[in-house]
Amino acid sequence: MTGKLKGARTRFTNNSLSHASKEYLKRQSADPYVRKAHAQGYRSRAAYKLLEVLEKEPFLKPGMTVVDLGCAPGGWCQVAMDIVGEEGTVVGIDLLPTEPIAGVVLLEADFMADEGQAALYAELPEGAACKVDAVISDMAANTVGHRETDGMRTMALVEMAEWFALEHVKEGGVFLAKLFMNGEEKALMERLRPHFAKVKFIKPHASRADSREIYILAVGRKD
Ligand SMILES: C[S@@+](CC[C@H](N)C(=O)[O-])C[C@H]1O[C@@H](n2cnc3c(N)ncnc32)[C@H](O)[C@@H]1O
Repeated sequence: MTGKLKGARTRFTNNSLSHASKEYLKRQSADPYVRKAHAQGYRSRAAYKLLEVLEKEPFLKPGMTVVDLGCAPGGWCQVAMDIVGEEGTVVGIDLLPTEPIAGVVLLEADFMADEGQAALYAELPEGAACKVDAVISDMAANTVGHRETDGMRTMALVEMAEWFALEHVKEGGVFLAKLFMNGEEKALMERLRPHFAKVKFIKPHASRADSREIYILAVGRKD
């Protein structure tokens, strides 16, 4: 397994930490998925969400080409690379830097910007005409604490990921995306249905029960 969970042993002694930060740190240190990720060498607890989705629908296979949107700190890339192997390709993009992962192409760029998409195309066979086996998106906007605003901001990321997937997922391929339930998820499902054999929502156990986070999985691209 590649990589380490960065910062897992960081000690905070600063009494000026906000209540929210203290609550976050308390929750992180009590979280079994955080401890498991640290022990198993995954960069993030998010790795277990993808692993759970793959347990239900094992859509990644050796040799596949995968685009990972919002990849930092790299848990999903680690999982994907372990499965697609040296014959496969994993390209990850994030606004934030991602520490290197053997065999994975990691881009620090804004997927919502033309430059970010150009950087992605530059790494994919056939560039903007590329067809890939899977587009997986765990992108989330920085939250402001206002539920509707946060949901809408992440939905804008999902819609761009949806557009990218409909342009570039090959026949038989897969689109997986994280979203926050805000009433628009059913419309997304209806838009994806004509293009994929099966579309469903998945709430992994690793996704906190009190979060509105959910994943939409579309498998078997038809057109
Ligand atoms: C929940 S994290 C992803 C965790 C990752 N799947 C893992 O396993 O480590 C969401 C990521 O989406 C990224 N993100 C948000 N907006 C983005 C954008 N416009 N372009 C690229 N990445 C973006 C954030 O920087 C953040 O790192």
